[in-house]
Amino acid sequence: MCGIVAYIGPQEAYPIIIKGLKRLEYRGYDSAGIALLNESLSILKKEGKVLDLEVFTKGKSTVGNIGIGHTRWATHGVPCDRNAHPHQSNSGNLAIIHNGIIENYASLQAELIQRGYTFESDTDTEVLLNLIEDIQKEEKVSIEEAVRIALNQVIGAYAIVILDKREPNKLVAARKGSPLVIGIGKDEYFVASDASPIIEHTKKVVYLNDEEIAVLHRGGSLEIKTLGNVKKSPYIHKLEMQLETIEKGGYEHFMLKEIYEQPQVILDCMRGRMNAEQGWIRLGGINEFSTRINNAKRIIITACGTSWHSGLIAEYLIEELARVPVEVEYASEFRYRNPIISEKDVVIAISQSGETADTLSAIQIAKEKQALIYGICNVIGSSIARASHAGSYTHAGPEIGVASTKAFSVQVTILTLLALQLAQSKGTISQSRLRQILYEMETIPNKVKEALKTNDKVKELAAKYKDAQNFLYLGRGLCFPIALEGALKLKEISYIHAEGYPAAEMKHGPIALIDENMPVLFIATNKSAHEKIVSNIQEVKARKGKVIAIINEGDSIISDLADDYIEIPETDELLSPLVSIVPLQLLAYHIALMRGCNVDQPRNLAKSVTVE
Ligand code: G6P
Repeated sequence: MCGIVAYIGPQEAYPIIIKGLKRLEYRGYDSAGIALLNESLSILKKEGKVLDLEVFTKGKSTVGNIGIGHTRWATHGVPCDRNAHPHQSNSGNLAIIHNGIIENYASLQAELIQRGYTFESDTDTEVLLNLIEDIQKEEKVSIEEAVRIALNQVIGAYAIVILDKREPNKLVAARKGSPLVIGIGKDEYFVASDASPIIEHTKKVVYLNDEEIAVLHRGGSLEIKTLGNVKKSPYIHKLEMQLETIEKGGYEHFMLKEIYEQPQVILDCMRGRMNAEQGWIRLGGINEFSTRINNAKRIIITACGTSWHSGLIAEYLIEELARVPVEVEYASEFRYRNPIISEKDVVIAISQSGETADTLSAIQIAKEKQALIYGICNVIGSSIARASHAGSYTHAGPEIGVASTKAFSVQVTILTLLALQLAQSKGTISQSRLRQILYEMETIPNKVKEALKTNDKVKELAAKYKDAQNFLYLGRGLCFPIALEGALKLKEISYIHAEGYPAAEMKHGPIALIDENMPVLFIATNKSAHEKIVSNIQEVKARKGKVIAIINEGDSIISDLADDYIEIPETDELLSPLVSIVPLQLLAYHIALMRGCNVDQPRNLAKSVTVE
């Protein structure tokens, strides 16, 4: 949450920062601001999106070769101009942008107030900045040393960039718990929350580690030291990301582009990791730890949001195929309930961004209790990827739409491969069944492509149901997590209240909600539960609910019963989530669009949740 961008070098900072902020807007879009240093320090900030900031800055001076910019997802203080970043210190000399939360801000602020400091905003960030200023004054130290001393007093998470009016050839950046990447150009440096604002300027980057401070000298060196004052030599990575992957490529929205990328990203994710003809699966990340993983007494999966839903699918798959008990935990609950974990457990952390604060803390707890951590992340070099002992990248490329789509599909792909590899190693699956599933997996990208062809029909249904106030999504077995994920997509972007439920459990509560105004969406693609799901559909029909069913092609029993239906290609039941999620993503997209919602940037949400 919150996107930060900074620049120091020979170019004008403003256009670089504005463009960068637009790329990072998925991280928050409550307000945006920019501080530029030329002879003087000017701060321009505005409630709303980066576009509102651009309108606000029209006609104002935006000159300066050094600058810091921010797009905010509010934690401390409501979204408004006053709480927007950058913040300025009492003397007016320092400006800061911050992503994270300073937990002990109240006690620090009380002390600063006693020392005569005043505060203009309701933010924890302004407290940190004035603490730095106070240390700088009292101890007569450089800005970087003041930052180091201040951060040693701080509890919480941060990625910050600070500039000092009196030292116009220097930017200071630091991180703990929130990501920060430094781009190295010719006589210039870029700083950002992720690589997307940097990619078009340079491919050379340094990922700052937790508790590291970087000093970027204009036209000079990049110095890194730890909070403990130990010098570090920067390790330069080469960015593999392509510019096209972070642009819309002709689609109206990132979300739609990402939905349509699914056949390709599933294929990319499987590539080199399995061979149906030869009957093998190889998740490279497991090799070194295969004995521990194969002998795990229990697998605990921890994640948030959509990633938690892919964890639920994995529970079905791993238990069914590899016969290992699996527990799926919300990371936010797991980390605070003193979980029983031992060195015999394997903890799988699933995260698109690899930065979700709760998931990161959950694995830290599991690590302390000696469990093996297997991370499944999309963002290369992300904190969760780095904190894991073993892991697999999902290789879906950047996901920018706030509602996760393609990242979910590749998580499920990896987890399916993991379940199969475990089953093969443990001898809980016959070689013929394994090859049958692998052959079927090879057809999945094409089946997802076919499922995308339901788009026109889905659009018609969207028009018919867009004004509903509530939606129920029901499924059994592997279709239940898909019901949860379909409902989450709808509520995230269209603001219609939607609930996912196990179809049979409906009669213990949600059935009371059903009347002629309630659309009930059944995911009915699992043959093993066909008769039972038909009974559940009857139960809804008997109460005049409107039934929309996602069915396998040719399922005339359900198509005759349902008010509306969408046919998708049939596949092995274990792989069906990968196909059946597609029309649900499209339905949420079209309904949101028809209701005039901002599909890529739904209200109150952010893509990367780096606060707990
Ligand atoms: C936020 C996003 C969701 C995402 C969840 C977990 O809520 O809006 O789309 O599923 O965080 O994020 P992660 O990056 O850990 O998968």
